[in-house]
Amino acid sequence: MQGGRVVTAGADGDADVLIDGDRVTAVEPGIDMPVDRVLDAHGCYVLPGAVDPHTHLDMPWGETSTCDDFTSGTVAAACGGTTTIVDFCVQQPGQRIADALDEWHAKLRRTPPVVDVGFHLAVTDLAVPQAEADLVAAVRAGVTSFKLFMAYKGSLMVDDETLFRTMRAAADLGALVLVHAENGGVVEVLVREALAAGHVEPRWHALTRPPAVEAEATARAIALARIAGCDLYVVHVSCAEALAPVAAARAAGERVWGETCPQYLLLDESLLAAPGFEGAKAVFTPPPRAPEHQAHLWLALAGDELCVVSTDHCPWTFDEQKALGRGDFSRIPNGAPGIEYRLALLHEFGVRSGRFDLRRMVELVATNPAKLFGLHPRKGTLAPGADADLVIFDPAVEHVCSSATEHSRVDYCLYEGKAVHGWPRTVLAGGRVVAENGEPVAGAGAGRFLARGSVTWP
Ligand code: URP
Ligand code: ZN
Ligand code: ZN
Repeated sequence: MQGGRVVTAGADGDADVLIDGDRVTAVEPGIDMPVDRVLDAHGCYVLPGAVDPHTHLDMPWGETSTCDDFTSGTVAAACGGTTTIVDFCVQQPGQRIADALDEWHAKLRRTPPVVDVGFHLAVTDLAVPQAEADLVAAVRAGVTSFKLFMAYKGSLMVDDETLFRTMRAAADLGALVLVHAENGGVVEVLVREALAAGHVEPRWHALTRPPAVEAEATARAIALARIAGCDLYVVHVSCAEALAPVAAARAAGERVWGETCPQYLLLDESLLAAPGFEGAKAVFTPPPRAPEHQAHLWLALAGDELCVVSTDHCPWTFDEQKALGRGDFSRIPNGAPGIEYRLALLHEFGVRSGRFDLRRMVELVATNPAKLFGLHPRKGTLAPGADADLVIFDPAVEHVCSSATEHSRVDYCLYEGKAVHGWPRTVLAGGRVVAENGEPVAGAGAGRFLARGSVTWP
């Protein structure tokens, strides 16, 4: 790869990148040796492939499942510059943990990914046979992070005992604990009351999940992690109230990290009140917030109070799947698509808007997730020995986000009409070109399951 500006978390300068097979072998200016193929990167940034640590591909929810499988979801990811995902293997209550992992591996075999894929284990039930032993086995097999839902009462939500026992196990095993932090019991009461009063429209999704329910659960999770002695990662922080306990824990030197997503940085609660049933497109959890929260989240990204931007890509078709909640907002499948847009949105609204520099962007979408999820330095940077996962990013290309051009199977785009400058020109995963000029290269990808290690963060 010749002539580009190579940007990693630690360096920013003109250099060439030499690749041998699926590995980077040199990153330095003026590499001059015979090679099979030269990729031209003049005028472009050369970035490590982005790592998205929060996706829900082929995830069941009641009778339906998210509309992207591991093939379609990773094709869309690759087109947007993401070359690694860590997806959630969800244990259904009553299901043995080993069986849940087998099920997710079977999904991966049925619909092969074009980029590398790791799994988190979402623990919902420790009362199943061999639960503790299966947690040990999961970590040995490279599933080194456990997710707990403090919301979704009656389906995925765990009580504090299960949360705490899983945290204890994680502390012993060196695993990272992820929490979806909302007080699910309080949400359930508020939802019941709203429905009883005849409030069925999508906007009630946000009104029944106010910032305080997220803040309370976030502070509780941090307190329990402190007692358990485990590392804690709070997913999709959406508001100033929930950010505050994360920031305070980090300022106190605790091993707590927070993530946010483009939908919380760029969209707000007004979308839920769109005419008709359109608001269902923005029914994701935590909900979009009042616009004033966005400035807090951007500042936190710049200041390292939040360390990662993921997508929480959880795609449901509007016409069929979101429609399950017509007439009852609580039945709208929660989640929104976005796997293709993270890098370009952060470049436009983070870097080009002057909120942080390119190195920080790389840190937020690649290096930090790789470090936190046991993938660094194989992923998340460009250096000899790293996987040849690279993005040639052309900052001059103008792109308009639209469902007409994106690659997810979902039938709407959350960012429809948003214009950005900059889009991946060429994307390599494992040394192969998987996307060119925003389009997938047919049959090119050969993503593998990633057995991950522990957090590498001092
Ligand atoms: O609404 C969302 N975020 N759906 C996906 C599941 C989750 O809570 O992350
Ligand atoms: Zn969640
Ligand atoms: Zn999620």
